[in-house]
Amino acid sequence: MADTKTTSKTFKLNTGDSIPAIGLGTWQSQPGEVGKAVESALRGGYRHIDTAFAYGNEKEVGEGIKASGVPREEIWLTTKLDNPWHKRVAEGIERSLENLGTEYVDLYLMHWPSSTDPDDLKKHYPDWDFVDTWREMQKLVGTGKVKNIGVSNFGIKNLERLLNDPSCKIVPAVNQIELHPGNPSPKLVAYCASKGIHCSGYSPLGSSNSPLYSNETLKSIAEAKGRSIAQVILLWGIKKGWSVLPKSVNPDRVKANFELDGWDLTDEEVAKIDGVKDRFKVCGDSWLPVKVFFGDDE
Ligand SMILES: NC(=O)c1ccc[n+]([C@@H]2O[C@H](COP(=O)([O-])OP(=O)(O)OC[C@H]3O[C@@H](n4cnc5c(N)ncnc54)[C@H](OP(=O)(O)O)[C@@H]3O)[C@@H](O)[C@H]2O)c1
Repeated sequence: MADTKTTSKTFKLNTGDSIPAIGLGTWQSQPGEVGKAVESALRGGYRHIDTAFAYGNEKEVGEGIKASGVPREEIWLTTKLDNPWHKRVAEGIERSLENLGTEYVDLYLMHWPSSTDPDDLKKHYPDWDFVDTWREMQKLVGTGKVKNIGVSNFGIKNLERLLNDPSCKIVPAVNQIELHPGNPSPKLVAYCASKGIHCSGYSPLGSSNSPLYSNETLKSIAEAKGRSIAQVILLWGIKKGWSVLPKSVNPDRVKANFELDGWDLTDEEVAKIDGVKDRFKVCGDSWLPVKVFFGDDE
């Protein structure tokens, strides 16, 4: 058996901190389920939890962390600033910390590059955008409330705008983006790497009703390895250099998604998965008041 230890692997960020390669996702994890999922994940060895104010489950995530008995300082906790809160960054983090029952988060992300008007979610502020929001987020560094700041759902166009603005003093530590064999985004991943920005892969399994489970290439690799397609995809993501955030509220799947030690994928197998042709995206931008995906950097 290969002597690989993937679950304890971390990626070094541009701040010097290290983010665990695998974290538990919590989007669409329902009340009454998510706390138990977080607790069982942490007890089973996960040390990274991904949540967001918008998921409406921060409080229960915090309770799951406490119930696990794992010391807070051993856990990487990410949450996100919601779109209608862009003009209230200081208030937004306070609210999240209170929900989570913690003094700090390890990573605070701008969830989307959309400064949505809280009085009308179909409108974008005319006098404020993500550059202004980032200026405010930078002020959180040094308060002790956030260890790292980053962005999510940023493509190259928006990253260029952010990084080239004179008010941008801190390069985002992370860009959390959709990454799976159906949306591997090589241009965006390479761009982020060139700027020292780590990518975290969301919807790594292709989310709910994923077409990846019927993909023939993935099926044959999983069969050859004696592993599940989910495990193969997760290990592939980590080998590509991004952290992966599989969501599950099912105890068996939470456990199985973490069984990534002691086996490996060959370069040839990684290349085969890179070559999967069917493209699909889980998250679009039609529900936002502003376009954020431009299709040129995927
Ligand atoms: N930044 C953003 O805008 C953004 C957007 C989307 C997601 N995210 C983050 O990324 C996380 C993951 O993305 P996601 O939730 O969209 O999708 P995902 O993790 O790719 O897939 C989750 C789905 O797969 C099922 N599942 C989990 N493990 C499985 C396995 N081993 N075999 C078969 N099915 C399995 C889950 O159901 P069960 O729960 O029943 O197992 C759920 O339906 C989110 O939870 C969230 O934390 C961030």
